[in-house]
Amino acid sequence: MRVIEVDNYDEMSEKAAELILEKIKENKHANLGLATGGTPVGTYRCLIKDHTENKTSYKNVQTFNLDEYIGIDPDNPNSYHSYMKANLFDHIDIPAAQTHIPNGNAEDLAIECLRYDKMIEEKGGIDLQLLGIGTNGHIGFNEPGTPFASHTHVVELAQSTREANARYFNSLDEVPTHALTMGISSILASKGIVLLASGEMKADAIYELLYGKIDEEMPASALRKHSNVTLIADKDALKKVKGQRSVACGQ
Ligand code: PGA
Repeated sequence: MRVIEVDNYDEMSEKAAELILEKIKENKHANLGLATGGTPVGTYRCLIKDHTENKTSYKNVQTFNLDEYIGIDPDNPNSYHSYMKANLFDHIDIPAAQTHIPNGNAEDLAIECLRYDKMIEEKGGIDLQLLGIGTNGHIGFNEPGTPFASHTHVVELAQSTREANARYFNSLDEVPTHALTMGISSILASKGIVLLASGEMKADAIYELLYGKIDEEMPASALRKHSNVTLIADKDALKKVKGQRSVACGQ
């Protein structure tokens, strides 16, 4: 795993946007895997700024989001459909038909999961997957204990995840209990992965990711099985690994 240490959230965001833009320049038909949450907002802001100033085009890009809540209307401001429009899609030139997000309101969720994985595969797979990490080590909504072999599936959200996300809702009760998420195996199928972490709250998870066991109880540790992962983390998120950085953090 390549580790890029940056000073703060803004630098993390700029670096992540740089890697995404490199990918689009290399291949204007790039397939991007996208994430939601607080972490990637700054990255999207940088992409929007670049689009405005440098006119980088997304006309041929396809995007695939990691996850969506179950039982929330796509127009609900807390849905990840709304998040993606507000934070990125409405501000760049990507055709709506090329933006893909699991449908948490599908009549048959099992079929929706199969459809989502098949669609990603048929479109050639994901070239670059952007990821955040939960305080409990989740990636996407793959909570501790998720099999590494999992494909897109329905999950019950961990209490800590619902509590962390309650800041976007009026109350904890309103936070959905279930979601659809790309599985660990779907994520590992990406050709390249960029994992972002900012802030002291992520320090334990980053320590475990780099130095803990590769174990299903620590979902992000599966990333150590992948040969092309870049972690961009700020000083606060790397706080616990200071002095240990020379230790190999690959498999
Ligand atoms: P955050 O969430 O970006 O809001 O911290 C990350 C995650 O849960 O994957």
